[in-house]
Amino acid sequence: MKSTQDEIVSPAEQLAAENKRTPVFHVRDVPVYGDVILAPMDGFSDWPFRSLCRALGSAMSYTEFVRAQHIVEAYEHMAMRLTYDEVERPMVYQIYGDDPEELLQAALRVQDRKPDIIDINMGCPARKVVHQGAGVGLMRSPLTVARIFRKLTAALPVPVTGKIRIGWQNCRSYKLIARIVEENGGSLIAIHGRTKEQGYSGEADWDVIAEIKAAVKIPVIGNGDVKTVADIERLKQHTGCDAVMIGRAAIGNPWIFSRLDREQVPDEMVYQMVRQHLERHLAFYGTRKGMVLFRKHALQYLKLQHFPRTVRTQMITRDNPEEFLVLLEQAFNDLKESRVEDAR
Ligand SMILES: Cc1cc2nc3c(=O)[nH]c(=O)nc-3n(C[C@H](O)[C@H](O)[C@H](O)COP(=O)(O)O)c2cc1C
Repeated sequence: MKSTQDEIVSPAEQLAAENKRTPVFHVRDVPVYGDVILAPMDGFSDWPFRSLCRALGSAMSYTEFVRAQHIVEAYEHMAMRLTYDEVERPMVYQIYGDDPEELLQAALRVQDRKPDIIDINMGCPARKVVHQGAGVGLMRSPLTVARIFRKLTAALPVPVTGKIRIGWQNCRSYKLIARIVEENGGSLIAIHGRTKEQGYSGEADWDVIAEIKAAVKIPVIGNGDVKTVADIERLKQHTGCDAVMIGRAAIGNPWIFSRLDREQVPDEMVYQMVRQHLERHLAFYGTRKGMVLFRKHALQYLKLQHFPRTVRTQMITRDNPEEFLVLLEQAFNDLKESRVEDAR
């Protein structure tokens, strides 16, 4: 079997290749060398997954969102969410909250870890976040957004950006909020083309992304419903956005950042990726937690590989990595044999 190193470039190669290219856009003074970016996803975009996606072509790295209050009050407990590799740069720490002073204290506190960018989450629709006035709750409160951006951009050495939604069904404030972010020193807007009420279902409205791109001069990242490589180009064409952010479609298919649809990825590459992703999980979280947290990734790799449900269930219920790997090898060997049979 081929080594994973054949598919994933080394950190040194990655940096050397980027240094030779022209940036696609800048976040204030931070160059970004690509136009496809892994979305921040709570429970998914941790160091193991982010670093693999970055090596496959995701142009920058966003952490899962981190509550500002937790950074201020329990910084040491936030260490895992804030861990990253040098090669992930530009590294974006995404924080959430509704209190400008607390957000500033959190952003100042994390400066010792040298992120390249601080991003404010203004899109999360979860009740417990919105109830605090944070996440998409901020899109009802333009004045608070202005205060947050004014305060943070004046005090921080790094650029400050925002990730928003359309707004609420009865308060589609996207254009106003995007302008406020820009007028108060913000350096980039990422926009997910859905309302709070839509959550993650229904169709994303790409016209809204185009409207924001036309309304501001800072770079705009478009997001929502990008499922295939063709969608990346379609969203760029439709909106003129500077880059495209991909969330759910990257789970089980990190190769989308190399502009490969899942059916184009050879079985061998999938096999090696599952192994490498698991290895990073175990190294990062330890065996027990690593195995448990890996299940949702494994499930999606295996589903997209069209393994039967019984095989998938048997694999993802393993607590022991060695047992999982034996089953994985067996499943891929069986697949190889069945492909040979089919070809006869
Ligand atoms: C499980 C999950 C967790 C998410 N967590 C975050 C988060 O921490 N911060 C954030 O800005 N957006 C978060 N999002 C939203 C995504 O970044 C993205 O905007 C959304 O999934 C739409 O993109 P997609 O259609 O490509 O998935 C999350 C989405 C999902 C599905």
